[in-house]
Amino acid sequence: VKADLRSTLLEINKTAAKYFYAQLKSNRGETAYRYLTGRALSDETITAFGLGYSSKYSDDLYRYLRSKGYTEDQIRQAGLINTDEKNGVYDKFWNRVMFPIMDVNSRVIGFGGRVMGDGKPKYLNSPETMIFDKSRNLYGLNRARTSRKPYFLVCEGYMDVIALHQAGFTNAVASLGTALTSGHASLIKRYVQEVYLTYDSDDAGTRAALRAVPILKEAGITTRVIRMDPYKDPDEFIKNLGAEAFEERIGKARNGFMFSLETLSKNYDLNTPEGKTDFLKEAARRLGTFEEELERNNYIEAVAKEYQVDMGSLKKLVSKTAIQDG
Ligand code: CTP
Ligand code: MN
Ligand code: MN
Ligand code: MN
Ligand code: MN
Repeated sequence: VKADLRSTLLEINKTAAKYFYAQLKSNRGETAYRYLTGRALSDETITAFGLGYSSKYSDDLYRYLRSKGYTEDQIRQAGLINTDEKNGVYDKFWNRVMFPIMDVNSRVIGFGGRVMGDGKPKYLNSPETMIFDKSRNLYGLNRARTSRKPYFLVCEGYMDVIALHQAGFTNAVASLGTALTSGHASLIKRYVQEVYLTYDSDDAGTRAALRAVPILKEAGITTRVIRMDPYKDPDEFIKNLGAEAFEERIGKARNGFMFSLETLSKNYDLNTPEGKTDFLKEAARRLGTFEEELERNNYIEAVAKEYQVDMGSLKKLVSKTAIQDG
């Protein structure tokens, strides 16, 4: 019975995705269609990602799904309706551009919906359901899995993934409006051993990258960090500077550990002996977390070089810190 419900929920989501897509292509979807082309998406891209539109009429989808024979309870379990005393049953997504979220086998498991303009919330997402676990799915993975690159570009948003794929970077994926989890990391590890983090340039994006580095390392994934400045995110970067400039940034990506240290160093005044010493003590503590001697020594060498400190002294500091911590 449970397996039956799962396949029904998948069917409902697929039916909804087709419905949203048809709405986008109809007269009603004209504003939404213009919104998407205004964001530089081609018809081919819109079709490839199955983008759609949820209309202004608040129970359109619900009535359509009921006409296809699904029950109120099934539609609720698919996460597509809300109910309250005043309004009864109504669609969850209303007057938004729709991004179907697919699992690795291209089955629709949920949706993200964006307002066209400045309304709040900017994105509304399907709730977690029997078929939608946000921490075990990545947006774009169904396409990225067949890319030939030995690494994934992991970014923040739907639009980043789509803009990157359109520009030829078909190895881009995004976590679904949540922080990267160990579940995501093990999912990634099935396909590639290396990740290039391509988060937004703001503080939130930097913090998200700092948190993701150790999670990926834990899963045995090598991490590099790409910066998008002076633009906000990969979508805007590509739109302004194009694919070649993005390729250059990939080439200049920083090692995840070195990126974390660089971010940390901003809290210290490296021009004073005490500031530099305090920073190096914390750096030594972090260097001590590399269990493999060869790897640890390579990082000690890189840090010594970058922060102009004697390698022998740094090595001693790392050993001393490890003993104190241990
Ligand atoms: N997000 C969300 N809910 C929000 C805001 C964001 O779920 N209220 C998720 C979405 O998956 C979004 C991602 O976080 O794609 C990144 O958010 P943000 O950087 O704010 O949006 P962009 O992807 O840059 O969206 P856009 O370019 O359309 O403004
Ligand atoms: Mn979860
Ligand atoms: Mn952001
Ligand atoms: Mn954006
Ligand atoms: Mn963004």
